[in-house]
Parts: sequence; structure tokens; C-alpha cells
Amino acid sequence: METGDTQPGEAALAAHFDATIALMRQIEPRDWMPDGYRKTMIRQIAQHAHSEIIGMQPEGNWITRAPSLRRKAILLAKVQDEAGHGMYLYAAAETLGADRADLTALLIGGRQKYSSIFNYPTLSYADVGVIGWLVDGAAICNQVPLCRSSYGPYARAMVRICKEESFHQRQGYELLLTMMRGTAAQQAMVQESVDRFWWPSLMMFGPPDDQSPNTGQSMAWGIKRHTNDELRQRFVDMTVPQADKLGVTLPDERLRWNPERGHYDFGEVDWAEFKAVIGGNGPCNAERIARRRAAHEDGSWVREAAVAYAAKHGEAS
Ligand code: 3HC
Repeated sequence: METGDTQPGEAALAAHFDATIALMRQIEPRDWMPDGYRKTMIRQIAQHAHSEIIGMQPEGNWITRAPSLRRKAILLAKVQDEAGHGMYLYAAAETLGADRADLTALLIGGRQKYSSIFNYPTLSYADVGVIGWLVDGAAICNQVPLCRSSYGPYARAMVRICKEESFHQRQGYELLLTMMRGTAAQQAMVQESVDRFWWPSLMMFGPPDDQSPNTGQSMAWGIKRHTNDELRQRFVDMTVPQADKLGVTLPDERLRWNPERGHYDFGEVDWAEFKAVIGGNGPCNAERIARRRAAHEDGSWVREAAVAYAAKHGEAS
């Protein structure tokens, strides 16, 4: 396990870090940790936080056009939850010495990522249900193991986030069940949305393990408890029966149960598309960052007022 070039005095601290990880216990903010561990945690937590905040845009697009007050209230609650998830996660990153303003600048400057899934457009109201079912469903698959991640503040933030993601996934699936019991046009709208979001949802789990530069070390440090491919497979196995119950087909001709493996076999993800999207060339990357930049600039007066108030009243900024 990499613990960096430690000085003799640090050797005991590094040994304690390694023992804590080996015992699957948690590292806390004041504990000694290798620089690489701190850097990886800041990177992953920041990008997770960015994903939550950017993820408000595609669904927010439908708040004013929800078909009923009930659907509008549910969608408003969900989008507000995502903002809260971002706040918990930026707060977790700050326990590692990161500065929230710096992280926002890295996001807006295109030097930190957010989840590829949010670079796809929401073209119909069915997308609100499909995002809840597939995107939040994938997020739950990925995030439940993170409740046992080795960094304490991150793992604890995940517990609250996963509870709320479960509501997000259920409301999406219920919305789709309602539409699938509706008109042929509503059923066609759901199927068209599933066709657009299925493969990008599988990309949320990251590149294949043999193309992931971070997974090996993140597994060794207990940051990840499962690899990208393991969680992708878990998501497929969980989702296929749900699709059957819903009455939609998943757009993958190679999808079939493999009794030898005890899992569903599925087709190859388009990794060229994935690389293009995380490289900034997805359908909505420019729009998402422009909106985030505009919101940051429009909100500068609030930050300035808060800093001025704190300076005047002598509170810690
Ligand atoms: N979108 C954007 N970038 C991605 C990505 C994706 N779907 N998958 C991988 N990448 C990036 C990684 O960040 C890394 O780039 P970097 O080194 O410049 O940061 C590179 O591709 C290689 O990928 P790795 O698998 O080696 O990287 P990780 O070990 O960090 O694994 C991950 C990627 C599985 C996404 C991991 O970071 C993770 O589990 N993050 C926490 C969960 C998270 O961020 N989820 C976002 C989903 S959206 C969400 O939760 C909102 C909810 O409301 C739906």
C-alpha cells in the first residue's frame, strides 16, 4: 500500500493509518494520512459534490412544466435534496483542507469533473421519471458501499444522502409506472427516454476496471469497497427485472441471463462516447458549465454581503 516517503517520526503514524485501513475502520480529519489519500479523497468528494449541483439543471428544466401540482412538489423536493447533497459533500471536502470557492473555480474552469450523466439533455417529461429510476438507481448502487468508505466524514454524509436517493429512485419509478398505465403516447415517451438514458447510466460507474487509473489504489485505501465493473454489473442485475415489471425494453440486444455466471450478460458500453463526454464534448457540457458560471456570478453579492457582515460583527468568516 502506498504511504509515501514518510520521515522516521511519521513511520508510526503511517503504520497506524495502514492498520486502521486494514481493520476497515475510518480515518478522521485530524488523523495522519498519506498526501495521496488526501488528494484522492478531495478529488472524489469534490467531483461528487459538483455532480449533485450540476445534476439540478437537467431535472430543474421540468419544474415549471410538471403536469400537476403533486408532480411539481415532488420534483421541487428532489432538486432541493440534490443541492443539500452538494452542500454536505463540499463540507466533507473542507474537512480535508479544501476550499469550497477553489473547488467551484476548478469546476467552472473545467479542471474538475462532474458525472457524465448530466451532460445529456432532458427532452421529455418521461426523462424526470427515468432519471429517478435509472440515474438515482445507479447512484444508489454506487453510493451505498460508500457509506463504508474509509474516510469518516464522507461515509457519514453518504448515509443521509442514500436515504434521500432511495426516495428519488422510488418517485421516478412510480412516475413511470403511472405513465406506462396511460396512453400509447405516454408509453412511447417512456420507452424513448429509456433508450436515451440506459447506456449513459452504465457510464456513471466509470471506465472498465482495466482502464481505471484510480480504482486499484482506491480499493487498497478502502475508499472504494467495490470496483467500477462490479457495481455496474450489480446495477444491471437489479434493473432488468424492474424494466420487465415496468413493461419497457432495455436497448441492448446482448442482454440476457447467464445461469453459469448468475448475472446478466450485457453489451459493450461505447467508451469512445464516454471519453468524449468526460472530455467536455458531450451534448450539454458547455450549457451546464455556462449555467453554473452564471449562477456563481449572479450570487456573488450574497457572498460579499455575508463576508462584510461577518467582518463587521467579528464572526469567523
Ligand atoms: N463521469 C465523469 N467522470 C468520470 C466518470 C463519470 N461517470 N467515471 C469516471 N470518471 C473520471 C474519474 O473522475 C477519473 O478522472 P480524474 O482522475 O480526472 O478524476 C477518470 O474518469 C478515471 O476514472 P476512475 O474510475 O479511475 O476514477 P474513480 O476511481 O474516481 O471512479 C467514480 C470514478 C466511480 C465516479 C468514483 O469517483 C465515485 O464513486 N465517485 C463518487 C460517486 C459519484 O461521484 N457519483 C456521481 C453520480 S451523480 C449523483 O450521485 C447525483 C445523484 O443525485 C444522481
